[in-house]
Amino acid sequence: MILRDKSIILGVTGGIAAYKAVEIASRLVKGGAQVDVVMTPAATHFVGALTFQAITGRPVAIEMFALLRETDIAHVSLAKRADLLIIAPLTANTLAKLAHGLADNLLTAVALDTRAPLLLAPAMESGMWENPLTQENLTRLRQVRDVVVVGPATGRLASGAMGVGRMAEPAEIVDAARWVLGRMGLLKEKKVVVTSGGTREPLDPVRVFTNRSSGRMGVALAAAARDAGAEVTLIHTSGGPPVPWGVRAVEVETAQEMRDAVLEAVAEADALIMAAAVADYRPAQTSEQKIKKTSGPLVVQMERTPDILAEVAARRAELPRLRAVIGFAAETEHVVENARDKLRRKRLELIVANDARAAMGAETNQVTLIAADGSVEELPLLPKEQVAERIIARLATLL
Ligand code: C5P
Repeated sequence: MILRDKSIILGVTGGIAAYKAVEIASRLVKGGAQVDVVMTPAATHFVGALTFQAITGRPVAIEMFALLRETDIAHVSLAKRADLLIIAPLTANTLAKLAHGLADNLLTAVALDTRAPLLLAPAMESGMWENPLTQENLTRLRQVRDVVVVGPATGRLASGAMGVGRMAEPAEIVDAARWVLGRMGLLKEKKVVVTSGGTREPLDPVRVFTNRSSGRMGVALAAAARDAGAEVTLIHTSGGPPVPWGVRAVEVETAQEMRDAVLEAVAEADALIMAAAVADYRPAQTSEQKIKKTSGPLVVQMERTPDILAEVAARRAELPRLRAVIGFAAETEHVVENARDKLRRKRLELIVANDARAAMGAETNQVTLIAADGSVEELPLLPKEQVAERIIARLATLL
């Protein structure tokens, strides 16, 4: 949603990574943005303008002097109305020009003219990136402009050498774009804690009890809250989707570790969303050594884990800032009735009820939102990203 109808200028400069800008354009267009690509003349040596034109469905601008032939000076107006200017890849050369206000090609002219935030994805050889001149240029630019920098990453560079200077991945750049566009959203200045994934309860050094949670729902919620401008802390277990850009992540393994992390994080938070599939039971004893197999059966005594939401509920009086606690009810039968009961017992503002069999590990979810005021909203089967947006919209009303 956050990308829909946004006007984004994608500046492409002359580096090998220019071909990856095609994927950035494609992802932005798929998200519903209107994308205008502006290439430097050097970029055209690496990737064809026609490729961008086909993907964005809009003309690609390269030549500064073509501008003079246009009656409405379209690219000047473009600079004025853009919501965001992304430059990916950004060469050391163009960075130097930006830092000094040069406008010797259409891209640098647009960059100088626009007041839109700048999202930069530098890509260059390590020597160029680490050169104090390049670093000074970046510092200088940051002092005068609203600049967000993604990467560069460490990896294989154009020269074949390993080092810092690789352009961040297109998915990460688009994720960062969502963060920039969402900064002023409905949840601006709100702190939201989200948990995700299935906890893992060790039996011995090599064996764990866990569940089928993929972490997708929780990560989608963290991304949606971030898109709405919230400051998000994601308390997650390993193996889930990548942590969204701009989200603070705390990795935990067991229910106990998740409890400790949640109690620490909620002390400052406005909202808590417990999307994690927290184990209800753990082995009562964990063995220091790997348990040897024998010919007979193995009996494992299980004990209860802490109920995190119950502990948060018990502390609500000491947490005046915490205005909304959202829980999940993953049931396999009597979904809504059980959820209602849980909402009351755990003193939640909202509960998201779903059928555990359909939701766990899947890309889609069909949920019913039940609020403390008794209202019931049944959502259709949707991708988890869209379910997350609907839940975050409800959270915004709660806050
Ligand atoms: O009671 P039940 O475990 O079914 O409730 C599910 C909700 O409670 C989920 O939001 C889950 O994250 C949370 N939960 C918890 N602590 C546990 C188990 C579940 O906070 N030990």
